[in-house]
Amino acid sequence: MNIVVVSPEKFGNTAADIVQRVTENTEAPNITFPTGDSPLPLYRELVNRYQHGKLSLANVQAFGLDEWGELEPGHPIRCISRMKTQLYSETDIPVEQIYYLEPNTDDLDVHCEAYDKRIADMGGLTLSILGIGINGHIGFNEPGSKATVRTRKIQLADRTLNVSQKYGFDKTPSWGVTLGLATLLESKEILILATGAHKAEIVHLTVNGPETSDVPSSLMRRHPNCTLLLDEAAAQLLKK
Ligand code: F6R
Repeated sequence: MNIVVVSPEKFGNTAADIVQRVTENTEAPNITFPTGDSPLPLYRELVNRYQHGKLSLANVQAFGLDEWGELEPGHPIRCISRMKTQLYSETDIPVEQIYYLEPNTDDLDVHCEAYDKRIADMGGLTLSILGIGINGHIGFNEPGSKATVRTRKIQLADRTLNVSQKYGFDKTPSWGVTLGLATLLESKEILILATGAHKAEIVHLTVNGPETSDVPSSLMRRHPNCTLLLDEAAAQLLKK
């Protein structure tokens, strides 16, 4: 794992440089986009670069990383709704190049399998952008998820449900759908984002703890081209 620590002011720029390098060096990059707080500085910077004519995302094939169950299509808390507001609608990613998981599907297993197959048929993921949950979840691959799991429905962990109160659910969904760790680990490159002192403990475990499915983020260490981008607060428990 390549660990990069920057100030909060440089966080968005550093992440955007990585995304821009991938988009400029790849004909049609397949990129996963997470929601949550961690990628917001990145999305703000990508939008800023696009608005100033410094960046185009027109060649990007955008894949949603995960989605809440139990919310109707178009619900503003849905990951796809937030991705549209925070990035997709603010840049030039063509709508027909935006893919996402739809939990309200008759046969969810078939839908998840088709999502993985689409990614495989398109040559696999070029860049997986990820956050880390305070319990080490990656996407919604909660503790206990093995490195071999594929895209699927999953029960959300209690800690995830507690933290997700920040989104203002009327009733918090008990399950979600997530890209699997195996699909993410097959990505050519991985960029994990973590900011803030509340992430310091899980960042420490991710980097220095045992590589275990109890902490799914620790499994990303086995990837040969994985960058963990941290601000100083999130990095405070790491050895110099
Ligand atoms: C969101 C997702 C989650 C978050 C994680 C960190 O699509 O996949 O794994 O990345 O819960 O969330 P924040 O960034 O809000 O701390």
